[in-house]
Formats: sequence, C-alpha cells, structure tokens
Amino acid sequence: MEFKKYLTEQCAVVEHALARYMLTEEGPLANHIKAMRYSLFAGGKRIRPILALAAAEALHVTTDHLLPTACALECIHTYSLIHDDLPAMDDDDLRRGKPTCHVVFGEAEAILAGDGLLSFAFELLSHPDAQQGITPDAQLRVISIIAKAIGPVGMVGGQSLDLAAEGQAISFEHLRLIHGYKTGALITASVQAGAIFGKANEKQFAALSQYGTQIGLAFQIVDDLLDVEGTTEDLGKTVGADAQRKKATYPAFFGVAKTKVMAQEAVEAALTALEIFDAKAEPLRALARYIYERNN
Ligand code: IPE
Ligand code: IPE
Ligand code: MG
Ligand code: MG
Ligand code: MG
Repeated sequence: MEFKKYLTEQCAVVEHALARYMLTEEGPLANHIKAMRYSLFAGGKRIRPILALAAAEALHVTTDHLLPTACALECIHTYSLIHDDLPAMDDDDLRRGKPTCHVVFGEAEAILAGDGLLSFAFELLSHPDAQQGITPDAQLRVISIIAKAIGPVGMVGGQSLDLAAEGQAISFEHLRLIHGYKTGALITASVQAGAIFGKANEKQFAALSQYGTQIGLAFQIVDDLLDVEGTTEDLGKTVGADAQRKKATYPAFFGVAKTKVMAQEAVEAALTALEIFDAKAEPLRALARYIYERNN
C-alpha cells in the first residue's frame, strides 16, 4: 500500500516536470508538437524516470536538477514506443489505451514525432537546470551513457535484432541479448543516470548498474508474459501480438511457468545487488518487486 502511494507520488512529480519542460502546441509547429504530446501524455508508468530518481535517493540525494534528465528518459522511451508501433515494425494500433500515434497523425508524422522526442531529449539532457546539479564532467558522462544505451549497440540495435528474429529459431543467448539491448539498456542507463546525480562511488555505481541490468531483463520478460497472460484493458495495448508476429519471447522459448521463474530470479539478483545500500534503497527494492508483480 505504501509503495503504491510512493509510485503515485513519483509519477506526479514526473508528470509535472514533463508538463513544465515539454514544448507547447503553438505556432507553425503546433501539429508536430501535438503528435509528440499525444504520445508523451497518453499515460505510461514513467518507470524509467522514477528509477533514476530512486537511484539518486538510494544515495541520499533528492534533487530537482535530475528532473530534466528524468524527462529526457521518458521522451526517449516514448519515441521508442511510437516507432515500435509503426506498421513497418510491430504494427500495433493501440498504445497506452489510445490509438497509436501513426493511426491518429499518419505514418510520416509519427516517424517525425519520434525523431522530435529523441532530439528534444538531448536538449533536456544538456539543459541549464541539469547543469546546476552535477559537474560538467559528470553531466557529459550521463549523456554519453544514455546515448550509447539507446543507439546501435543498445536499444536501436536491439530493435533491429528483434525484427530480424521474427519467425526464426534463435538460441537462448541471442534472445537474452535482444532483451538486454532493446529494453534492458535504457533501463540500466536510467538507473546509472540517477547514480551519477547521486554522486555514487565506483562500488555503488557497479552495484546499481547490476541492479539495472537485472531489472531491465526482468522488465522485458514480464512484458512478454503480459502479452500472453495480461488483458488489453489493463495493458492499454493489444495482447497476443507477440505470438501473432512470431516474436522471439521468453514464454515462446521456455513456456509460461519457467519464464516466471526466470523473471523472479532476475528480480532476486537485482535485490542482491542492492545489499550494500541502506533503507534509502527501499524504493528501488520495491520497484524491482513491482516489475515482477505488475499487471500493466
Ligand atoms: C513498454 O514499456 C515497452 C517495453 C520496453 C517493454 P512500458 O511498459 O514502460 O510502457 P509505458 O511507458 O508504461 O507505456
Ligand atoms: C519494445 O518491446 C522495446 C522498445 C520499444 C524499445 P515490445 O515491442 O515488446 O514492446 P511492446 O510490447 O510493444 O510495448
Ligand atoms: Mg517491438
Ligand atoms: Mg511492440
Ligand atoms: Mg511486448
């Protein structure tokens, strides 16, 4: 119950920051901005920004200077969803309980809305408000980590591998790699960004990175499970889409029961990585459990 309250409160913090930093619909670019805002403010759990805030909190740091970076993570994530749903990719019509961006604005504008959100994220990552919270070196490190995590050897590369694996018999190692790249990398980077704003030492940074890797994996495994066992109503996206597209997923590879065990194991490993932290890491611990237990 207490965690639910925490989640609601942190979600509100992120929503408020997004409303503050995001471009508003006016002038000649109103339609482009409308398309970006349509997907960005369609709901969403805001897990990546919340993880960044919780990682800093685990290091006893709460700072508003992390908010532009937290918002950037959500802009990047939303861009990835808009592109992921395109007809050329997963071809989904429903996202966050609403028709997908390309259904409402057309394919070309949806591509541009994604591009716009991605580029705008780098404006936020280098925002003057963020510069107050950390040294220029640390800020550059955050930007570099995020850029790497979402690029060719990260999220975008993972999406490429995901599409190439449709209908193919692949190894477990390859499946693990896809999940790590397409989803794990941005989640890990979110935790690492919070760690840097929290001025983590080397040992703390390594532990938080390990936590991020494990919950990142658990997150996509559970996403795969929810596509099998969840409801369209809870998820706000069409269930059963993975089987239909013959996606490489954990349930397809191992079956539902073994997949659940593997997700739990990843969460356990994430919790183990947090052993060096005190009670201030409780939100991170609860977030790891939530990633397994969630129904959306
Ligand atoms: C869905 O992400 C896509 C994956 C990377 C698995 P989320 O489950 O975080 O989606 P929102 O942001 O809550 O809509
Ligand atoms: C999405 O994975 C990963 C990224 C968007 C980078 P999925 O394709 O499984 O996500 P959903 O199920 O459509 O949200
Ligand atoms: Mg996909
Ligand atoms: Mg998809
Ligand atoms: Mg999915």
